[in-house]
Amino acid sequence: MYTYSKENAETYSQLGIKGTTYEPGFNEASKILGDLTGKVALDFGSGAGRTAQLLLSMGAKKVVGIDHSQIMIEQVKRLESNKLKFVKIDEKIPFYNNTFDVSLCAHVFVEVSSLEEMTQISNEVFRVLKPGGLWVIITNNSKAIGREYISYGYKKKNNLKSGDEITCTIKKGDDGFDIGDYYWSEEDYKRVLEKVGFKVESMTFPKMTGDGWLDETEVAPHVVIKCFK
Ligand SMILES: C[S@@+](CC[C@H](N)C(=O)[O-])C[C@H]1O[C@@H](n2cnc3c(N)ncnc32)[C@H](O)[C@@H]1O
Repeated sequence: MYTYSKENAETYSQLGIKGTTYEPGFNEASKILGDLTGKVALDFGSGAGRTAQLLLSMGAKKVVGIDHSQIMIEQVKRLESNKLKFVKIDEKIPFYNNTFDVSLCAHVFVEVSSLEEMTQISNEVFRVLKPGGLWVIITNNSKAIGREYISYGYKKKNNLKSGDEITCTIKKGDDGFDIGDYYWSEEDYKRVLEKVGFKVESMTFPKMTGDGWLDETEVAPHVVIKCFK
């Protein structure tokens, strides 16, 4: 498990979405999630709050962000309102079965160090989603390792195997920091999700177009997975 320092959590809170390497993945996820008016949404691995705020801006009537990092939860407490809550979790999600209409899980699976942990997370999300509930996951495109992107990069590594450690260098102006991440393939994600009971409807690899990008126009930084309970 990667442990965020207060400084890293602060840098993370300033990353944003527009004009960053995260934009194509979030554009695609937003398209899949659609209008969230009247929906109750779960943000698994809410970090510094940008994903929970995105869900709120899409009309959700209530958003719960959950994260196992105490530092991240402290960082986002100031964003809370009657529609937006953040909860520190351990392994269990502290909500009843069939509570949420939709869930987003962005940039979390890359921090997961084993398929057992990925399965445990997926099991818990499955449990708290309503029947037919939608789960959208944004995670690394396995082909993105070694590519140069605006907001972060992974050094090229040959013969990567599932579960290998990879270092992600986050870039934000003069600030930046390294995170210890893990390499997983699209087959790993699909196998875990289907084992838990999710129906995987699609996996998309969104790129950017236009000027001002690095490899974002060549190789999608992320895969966006759409699945249903
Ligand atoms: C890279 S951040 C992404 C935050 C946010 N989703 C975003 O896209 O801005 C990943 C977050 O997932 C959290 N996380 C990783 N593994 C987790 C787990 N097993 N349970 C709960 N939170 C987890 C980390 O603490 C971190 O805050």
